Amino acid sequence: MSTDSTSRGGLEDVVAASSAICYLDGARGVLAYCGHDIHDLARNATFEEVCYLLWHRRLPTRPELGDLHSQLAAARQLPDGVLRLMRQLPPGDGMDALRTLTSALAHYDTEAASTTADAQYRKAVRLTARMASLVAAFGRLQQGRGHVEPDPVLGHAANFLYMLTGERPDALSVRAFDIALILHADHELNASTFAARVTAATLSDIYSAMVSAIGALKGPLHGGANADVMRMLLEIGETATPDRAEEYIRAKLARKEKIPGFGHRVYTTEDPRATHLRRMSKQLGARTGSTKWFELSQRIEGVVTGAKGLYPNVDFYSASTYHTMGIAIDLFTPIFAVSRVSGWTAHVLEQYANNRLIRPRADYAGPPYPQAWMPVEAR
Ligand SMILES: CC(C)(COP(=O)(O)OP(=O)(O)OC[C@H]1O[C@@H](n2cnc3c(N)ncnc32)[C@H](O)[C@@H]1OP(=O)(O)O)[C@@H](O)C(=O)NCCC(=O)NCCS
Repeated sequence: MSTDSTSRGGLEDVVAASSAICYLDGARGVLAYCGHDIHDLARNATFEEVCYLLWHRRLPTRPELGDLHSQLAAARQLPDGVLRLMRQLPPGDGMDALRTLTSALAHYDTEAASTTADAQYRKAVRLTARMASLVAAFGRLQQGRGHVEPDPVLGHAANFLYMLTGERPDALSVRAFDIALILHADHELNASTFAARVTAATLSDIYSAMVSAIGALKGPLHGGANADVMRMLLEIGETATPDRAEEYIRAKLARKEKIPGFGHRVYTTEDPRATHLRRMSKQLGARTGSTKWFELSQRIEGVVTGAKGLYPNVDFYSASTYHTMGIAIDLFTPIFAVSRVSGWTAHVLEQYANNRLIRPRADYAGPPYPQAWMPVEAR
């Protein structure tokens, strides 16, 4: 058994599945869901339309979209047992809580073990609705504030912000959050989606696949990077000048440290999602009367792109966008999951529909075979 001699590890450029969901051209900076360009979707779509697109491979008609709205709204309520468990967890990381509570949701889903295509679809809808409720409820709890029940009249983005803040969100915040959800919804065989597909391919249940995905998303090389970007910006300092930010980044690069929010396995040019998040970071900053985080971010981008030829990825400007919206850092990566659950479930449904166990091989690099057996006293 041998690997391709040109392989750099990490399954780089390995095609591991055939999928009709996401088209990605890293050299040209193209991202499309089922043929629909991400720029078009970010300009025109709602997150609900994108969910439908990912699950059905086509945009919904008005009645179909209305039905999906109703299904999502009807599924938002969290089981009491899950809310109780949330309150019992010791204070800690948002992704740890999301992992545990998503797993707990399965215990309250009477269809959890059902394998019919219809039941799997209903579970995809429920998971998408409830992951948003979980993250908003967890955010409230972290702030020591009471639980806010979902409002079935509101769309997905507006309801999330309402459940998080307890206040009716304004139109600009809703649209910005909706766009952020659209941009994060799917990204081909990224690490968490691959983890979900590997779990689903054993014919394990969709909740287990989501728990695998959440575990993979948490890492700082994947979804965890958005929180790391904000921690870095805060370390640079609220009152720092762009020159100070440049000095900080140059020192970090000189120490050969990675800058969170930059680089990508697939894109060798601008990540098309970053284009929208950059604009939103500036726009939301201007509304609050301070574009400070945007200006620091922009200088950092200039330094990293100039010095390393690396472009900002989806996590870089989402950090200042969420922070400007008043969202706590601990919720940044869970919010990534609130969106990506749509893509994870779409991929899991696709995997179930045409399944074969995913079981690659390793290039053995251990002690030569065979080794002589030594009794424990003789070792
Ligand atoms: C996204 C990421 C994991 C891709 O990893 P990858 O394809 O395995 O690329 P590598 O980590 O092997 O990086 C290739 C080279 O670029 C450098 N590099 C990559 N990302 C970098 C970053 N963010 N800052 C500084 N240097 C970086 C590496 O040090 C490496 O340099 P070398 O060849 O001199 O050793 C990587 O770019 C990264 O760690 N980025 C920061 C975390 C992040 O933002 N993750 C979110 C991704 S959406």
